[in-house]
Amino acid sequence: MTAPAPDATSSGSIALIGGGPGDVDLLTLRAVERLRAADVILYDDLAGDGILSFARPDAELVAVGKRAGHPSPKQEEVSRLMVGYARLGKRVVRVKSGDPSIFARTDEEISAARAAGVPIEIVPGITTATAAAAYLGTSLTKRLVARRVQMVTGHDVDGQLPADLDITALADPGATTCVFMGKATFAELADRLIAHGLSGETPTVVVESLGSPSTRVMAGTLAEIATRLAAAKPAGPCLILYGAALAGVAARDGEAIA
Ligand SMILES: C[S@@+](CC[C@H](N)C(=O)[O-])C[C@H]1O[C@@H](n2cnc3c(N)ncnc32)[C@H](O)[C@@H]1O
Repeated sequence: MTAPAPDATSSGSIALIGGGPGDVDLLTLRAVERLRAADVILYDDLAGDGILSFARPDAELVAVGKRAGHPSPKQEEVSRLMVGYARLGKRVVRVKSGDPSIFARTDEEISAARAAGVPIEIVPGITTATAAAAYLGTSLTKRLVARRVQMVTGHDVDGQLPADLDITALADPGATTCVFMGKATFAELADRLIAHGLSGETPTVVVESLGSPSTRVMAGTLAEIATRLAAAKPAGPCLILYGAALAGVAARDGEAIA
């Protein structure tokens, strides 16, 4: 563990805040307070631009996005920057899309802050999974139908479908599954789920770029949606949800991406 410099962290601090799905009015009041007080704001490219409107005019804004397929700073560099600013005595806000506890490498940033002796606070946000349910006008759980909700990544460090996924759990017909970072690998996942016994008729919904003016939805079945998704090649981030609880989600006219 690296000891903090004697005079470095007297007033510096880090707040990891959940930026929610992008709609500014879905930020928590606490997140807005931290943004207004920040000397430095490090933000992901998935965090909506509106969030930065709360920054002080003199705050330093640093883009540290890690959008798949685009060059971006490595996680170690982001942690180093965040801790470095805090050790200069700055109030640092690190904005994550959605909730910081869901697929956001928050654990690594907490470790870096603690190793440097910098105080760190986590401000939760609305994860894309629940924001998508709200947008679709549905619930992720359903009495007697969906007793379990699971969140999974479809993207391993090499960009492939993770080899160690628990396919039995993911093929549970009594669960609603939210697949993050899965648009490139969903065809393979869907094939494996169906081979494992999950019905190809399972309701499946793709929500692209939630919280932005270009939000689009594709609704269909597990058996056919992967093909449509692969053909549509959506440019924005996509959350894929499947499970019987989504049966009532109709395709949204004018918003379908295919
Ligand atoms: C690194 S994870 C971040 C998840 C985030 N912490 C959360 O709680 O929603 C990025 C993935 O989240 C999903 N995602 C994030 N923002 C999204 C958005 N605005 N619309 C659709 N999916 C989104 C996509 O699956 C994307 O590939």
